[in-house]
Amino acid sequence: MHLLTLKDWSADQIEDAIDQSIRIKKNQDKFRTSLKDKSLAMVFQKTSTRTRVSFEVAMTQLGGHAIYLDWRTTNFTLADVGDETKYLSRNVDCIMARLRKNSNLKVMAEASRVPVINGCAEKYHPCQAISDLMTIKEKKGSLKGLKLTYIGVHNNVCNSLIEGCTKVGVEIATVTPLINEPSVDKELIERAKQTGLYKTTLDVKKAVRESDFVYTDTWVDMEFFTDPKFKEEKERRIKLMKPYQINAELLKGSDALIMHDMPIHRGYEITEDAIESSKSIIYEQSENRLHSAKGILLKLLGKT
Ligand code: CP
Repeated sequence: MHLLTLKDWSADQIEDAIDQSIRIKKNQDKFRTSLKDKSLAMVFQKTSTRTRVSFEVAMTQLGGHAIYLDWRTTNFTLADVGDETKYLSRNVDCIMARLRKNSNLKVMAEASRVPVINGCAEKYHPCQAISDLMTIKEKKGSLKGLKLTYIGVHNNVCNSLIEGCTKVGVEIATVTPLINEPSVDKELIERAKQTGLYKTTLDVKKAVRESDFVYTDTWVDMEFFTDPKFKEEKERRIKLMKPYQINAELLKGSDALIMHDMPIHRGYEITEDAIESSKSIIYEQSENRLHSAKGILLKLLGKT
């Protein structure tokens, strides 16, 4: 069993990972040796703070070991992704990879003898969505019937949130005036629509008024944010997206809790006052990446 996209997981499997993550967080000492003598390879083709730290610390706290592999310093740069993965999976018990292309994750999963976890590629970010749903369940005690609005650019995080929410009974509205082309997955959107739990709108004020949670993410993908070649597109996006910024004015009269998967670009998709407001659960949400990384690892390694 792999975790490449939540499309491959049933509602029961997703809910099980969420509940397991909450149990682990409450009983951390009980799991100190759960992955004794197990190794996780972590392959990074892109930058990361949370995904790297959460999985590495998760392995340490579960009694196992994590190996950080910067793509640029490995022979993944020279060789076939499948061949390198075949080798890797004869040495480690699990692989987590943050790659530029979802297609390479599929190659890895095909070639691997051990579970492969998608640490975020251009189409999906399933680990983030599991952590987000864990945070939502912790806050409200259950998931069904809750309403979340995602405001921002339709991207990989948005795809996994739509998939996760509609599978576990959370209503999700997206306010996404822009779509990151590489994230497009028509099949995922069609399936979500059929559940009756997903809608998309540009009426951001109404969507926020009706929400238990409001969620945003960067308007510009991490690899482009400081890239001079992307300057013009970045400026175009900022102009187009500014009316959809999460700020005090937008949140006036709303009791919604505020979420962001981080890294945050303060003053762009969200303002200081919203980040630091009493309604913000952003830092708890980011902490939960650790507990949910443990839940995911234990589930994939059959240690439930
Ligand atoms: N949210 C998230 O995946 O953070 P990193 O990019 O820092 O891993």
